[in-house]
Amino acid sequence: MIQDFAKRLEKVIEFLPPIPIVMTELLAAIADEDVEMNALARIISKDPSMSMNVLKIANSAFYRLPYKVATVEHAVKMMGMKEITMICLACGTYRALMPSRNVQTFNSDDFWKHSVATGVIARKICRELKVGDKNVIYFLGLLHDVGKVILDRFAHDIYTLVIQTTYDECISMIEAEKRLIGESHDVIGGFVMEKWKLPEVFADVARYHHTVMESPEYNRINVAIASLADQLARVRYFGFGGDMSGVVFSETEAFKVLEKVVPDIVNMDIFRFVHELETVDDEIVEMEKILTS
Ligand SMILES: [Fe+2]
Ligand SMILES: [Fe+2]
Repeated sequence: MIQDFAKRLEKVIEFLPPIPIVMTELLAAIADEDVEMNALARIISKDPSMSMNVLKIANSAFYRLPYKVATVEHAVKMMGMKEITMICLACGTYRALMPSRNVQTFNSDDFWKHSVATGVIARKICRELKVGDKNVIYFLGLLHDVGKVILDRFAHDIYTLVIQTTYDECISMIEAEKRLIGESHDVIGGFVMEKWKLPEVFADVARYHHTVMESPEYNRINVAIASLADQLARVRYFGFGGDMSGVVFSETEAFKVLEKVVPDIVNMDIFRFVHELETVDDEIVEMEKILTS
């Protein structure tokens, strides 16, 4: 079975859906320092579903903009080019990887709830500690586990077994994936982000969110925030995976990395922080609706 999967995995990597054209164009545009807002808006407007997502997100409670945004140009002006590009990258990735409705998948509601929660919490950590890239951190959290979608999409039968094993044996997803598949979602996720030429920090968060200390130093803070958010999301939402037994936050690699740059983190009351996450419930529900509609 494992050999079978290895062959299939090769095919997955070979035949991964191509990065949507609008994303390639956006990445090229944003790499140009002199790019103008209108040029960016024109690229997005060419893709109706991307434009719709931008408007829905711009008008959501998530951004709390003071008035209604009716055009993509307006959204770019209000939210900034970097933020808009990140929204498009996240939505594009989501759209490219989601299977059609009749295909069997793992519980994708649970999965996206966990992903959205990780994004929301990562943004909260970033604001509270004043570290990390505030324009990108939400989207890094949102896409950190993208490798799971890929593994499930291309080998649903084996991945169902992986999930069952995490519950039955109370082991981490990574451990179950390695045992049953031979490769884990962090490696696969990093690979896809790279293949799609998303900004390097996306690949680093996907690849190192379970092994923060192995991440390149220039992206380590963002990786650490996403990793801590991932763990808090699991504690708070039990979204997806049976691997939260006995985590001591202050002993995690993520916490130690953040402690070096923000020594004050030791005074952060993790239990209060987790408790306060109730206030972000609405945001999570709203983002989830936008992404999955
Ligand atoms: Fe993960
Ligand atoms: Fe996760």
